[in-house]
Amino acid sequence: MIRVVVTGYTGKVGSVVYRYLQNQSDMEVVAGFNSSNLKGLPEVIRTDKPHFLVDFTLADVALDIIKTAAEYDVNVITGTTGFQGNIDATFSEIAKSHNIAIAWVPNFSLGANLMMEFSKRAAEYFDEAEIVEMHHRTKRDKPSGTAKLTASLIRDVWRARGIDSEIIPSSLRLSSAVAHQWVLFSGEDEFLVIEHHSLSRLPFAKGVAVALRKLFSKLDEVRGRYLKGLSQILEL
Ligand SMILES: NC(=O)c1ccc[n+]([C@@H]2O[C@H](COP(=O)([O-])OP(=O)(O)OC[C@H]3O[C@@H](n4cnc5c(N)ncnc54)[C@H](OP(=O)(O)O)[C@@H]3O)[C@@H](O)[C@H]2O)c1
Repeated sequence: MIRVVVTGYTGKVGSVVYRYLQNQSDMEVVAGFNSSNLKGLPEVIRTDKPHFLVDFTLADVALDIIKTAAEYDVNVITGTTGFQGNIDATFSEIAKSHNIAIAWVPNFSLGANLMMEFSKRAAEYFDEAEIVEMHHRTKRDKPSGTAKLTASLIRDVWRARGIDSEIIPSSLRLSSAVAHQWVLFSGEDEFLVIEHHSLSRLPFAKGVAVALRKLFSKLDEVRGRYLKGLSQILEL
């Protein structure tokens, strides 16, 4: 049984994740936390000894939450986006010094991760691209974590090909949007458009469950490591 605590369990994403994990027969959600009860996190960790903390809060609080989990040897899966500074280095250092696994997944939907994989492939052949992302009006960070990650993956492919270009994603915020992204590649007299649309927050919850099972199945191997993106966890 995979024991889990969820932070941000009353949020738009966290609430869907929380309910979904509660319905998995191989998982036990021991508690949910938001701003009203976060103080109780250490006590619950000491008592219930969860294997993982699943975090969907906001960037300005998530790092402290993750540090608390690390102090108590609890592995972390966070979907929170919008971190400032060199968050990769910070997560690597925390994972290593506390010998826990930290996975940061800016987008948990399988389709969005395949969109990124296909974009890397297209970048091997196309030298020019733009990214447009559209999210719900209340999303705070801009551009989205997925758009930034897609841009960096394309940039890495281009660098290896000797192309020194950067993509600055364009962001749209609209009330009826969930999570949408278009990656537009421009070639000679042709466009290739790779697009992905999350129509609800269920794909994120499913991705969290898949990631939990995968990491739990190889905990000894991933302890002390920082993993970034669903592709790295699932070895896509
Ligand atoms: N990785 C992915 O696949 C994915 C997909 C979509 C969104 N996201 C990201 O997930 C995060 C959450 O998004 P959302 O739309 O669900 O946000 P949201 O609706 O604003 O929910 C935020 C959650 O964090 C909690 N929270 C806020 N401040 C807190 C504090 N000081 N201590 C403890 N809990 C606190 C909120 O609880 P209160 O109600 O008590 O304030 C709420 O439960 C964002 O960073 C978003 O960009 C990730």
